[in-house]
Amino acid sequence: MGYLDTKRGNPLKKTKVIAVINQKGGVGKSTTVVNLSAALGEAKKKVLVVDLDPQGNTSSGYGIEKEELEHDIYDALLDDYPVEDLIIDTCEKNVFAIPATIQLAGAEVDMVTVDGREHLLKSLLSPINEHFDYVLIDCPPSLGLLTINALVAADELLIPIQCEFYALEGVTKLLESMRMVKNRLNPELEIFGVLLTMYDARTTLSKQVAEEVTAYFGKKVFKTIIPRNVKLSEAPSHGLPVTQYARMSKGAQAYIKLSKEVIRRG
Ligand SMILES: Nc1ncnc2c1ncn2[C@@H]1O[C@H](COP(=O)(O)OP(=O)(O)OP(=O)(O)O)[C@@H](O)[C@H]1O
Ligand SMILES: [Mg+2]
Repeated sequence: MGYLDTKRGNPLKKTKVIAVINQKGGVGKSTTVVNLSAALGEAKKKVLVVDLDPQGNTSSGYGIEKEELEHDIYDALLDDYPVEDLIIDTCEKNVFAIPATIQLAGAEVDMVTVDGREHLLKSLLSPINEHFDYVLIDCPPSLGLLTINALVAADELLIPIQCEFYALEGVTKLLESMRMVKNRLNPELEIFGVLLTMYDARTTLSKQVAEEVTAYFGKKVFKTIIPRNVKLSEAPSHGLPVTQYARMSKGAQAYIKLSKEVIRRG
């Protein structure tokens, strides 16, 4: 089964393109892309995950053997390789992926001299978006050109925030970049939601961060909070989303709950 043989959950609804973004490292972006997409797929939504991070954590999270790939998203962004030929099946029936390998690390530099460099990802995704209910883009931990491309290609942002010290550090900078892109390149861009991750109910710090983030973002904060859960950190080494690796775990249940909230938000 390829992506063209699989039906959309709701073909009449406009595709939602969501960039999962935070230039802070290790806050749960890739974990969210893999596990939210898998949960949406289970709910019969057809999802494309776009790995825009040279670390390729979303690709490995789905068990994609990066060493065996002949092409990755770099080739489509910078070498006119047909994007349709990059879309591969994953272990989750309704989820498809455009993988990244370390080759993508060169993109930040190679894009600089290209005309319309901020629009490369948008041009690449525009013709294929309509085949999916959701397109989830995993961003690298920086505000470089790859991330700017994600901000231009996306309709909305999902911002994971880790319940740790300095949780909001850098968020102002992220919102500045968002405003800049909104003013100049993508006026429709909005925040879809803010997701609290790695929450530890035993610590007052987690609670404080949750309160602080809610005071800052208000209703944008998802009601679902992702707990710190060891199954979430183990699943990628098995190349499986947590819903397949440890379905009954708190981590899996949280991402299933999040998928329902995402669907309710539209
Ligand atoms: N809720 C969680 N509970 C336990 N471990 C988690 C959780 N979320 C993520 N992790 C682990 O924390 C680490 C960082 O998570 P992840 O890779 O998703 O973050 P990231 O924001 O994508 O990082 P980067 O900025 O490097 O791309 C990983 O080892 C992941 O397995
Ligand atoms: Mg990541």
